[in-house]
Amino acid sequence: MIKNPQQRIRMAVFPVAGMGTRFLPATKANPKEMLPVVDKPLIQYAAEEAVAAGIETLVFVTGRNKRSIPDHFDKAYELETELAERGKAALLELVRNIVPPKVTCVYVRQTDALGLGHAVGCARPIVQHEPFAVILADDLIVSHDGGALAQMVEQFNELQCSVLGVEEVPHDETGKYGVIDPVATDTPGLWDVRGIVEKPSPKDAPSNMAVVGRYILTPRIFELLEQQGAGAGGEIQLTDAIARLLNEERVTAFEFKGERFDCGSKLGYLKATVEYALQHPELQDDFKAYLKSRFG
Ligand code: G1P
Repeated sequence: MIKNPQQRIRMAVFPVAGMGTRFLPATKANPKEMLPVVDKPLIQYAAEEAVAAGIETLVFVTGRNKRSIPDHFDKAYELETELAERGKAALLELVRNIVPPKVTCVYVRQTDALGLGHAVGCARPIVQHEPFAVILADDLIVSHDGGALAQMVEQFNELQCSVLGVEEVPHDETGKYGVIDPVATDTPGLWDVRGIVEKPSPKDAPSNMAVVGRYILTPRIFELLEQQGAGAGGEIQLTDAIARLLNEERVTAFEFKGERFDCGSKLGYLKATVEYALQHPELQDDFKAYLKSRFG
């Protein structure tokens, strides 16, 4: 539990060192987090969600073939000069404001791909003793309630304990997620977590409430991650360290308002593309007309 009740969530960790094998060959030389949904890469949606939640430092845990991520968040002098010379003010504004000026980006390299828990542990020298957020960019969440992370930060500010972002999934899909054993609280949508299991088969799953790529964690998790051995899939699992954290501290789960798209799968990615296109101010009318002509 956080000893200083004044602590705020100022940092978000983005594990982006995965291989993205499900999207090969698109991800052979490019990270999956740079796949665009309509006109923005997945990682930018994730960064915007973090900034909307008041995050000031974005910590990217990167690996091989990820150079385009720092490039994306960096200043692009040539492009900016070119756009300025051509009088493209709106586009210039867009590339200059990928992240607001007060937000800092930090990059840590995960040299061995040992799993999500290991990736989060790589952020320890930056985050140190603060509670922090973790965002998995391939879970893209549309929310008209300030963003999923902002809703979780609100819970954290109230409770001062770890908060996991969860949603109900079909029972036969528990094997794709970290699944919690939830205990109801007085607050709608908020559960106490009594247990958590990584990728259980439906018959072993404690519920159908799955963690969907959003976490707020206390810094105690770093110590637990350092002692964490390999779990499901032979990887160091964040879920396993959370299972130990909840023996020591209160861990809660919050069912945020919003719709999640699993952009780690081709079908989820296509659904996200359709939904975002239907909401895009410049595209929506033409795209709707196209879909109508295509499907009647
Ligand atoms: C990871 C986590 C899992 C979580 C999921 C959410 O799994 O290990 O607990 O439910 O993200 O997307 P992955 O999708 O990387 O296999």
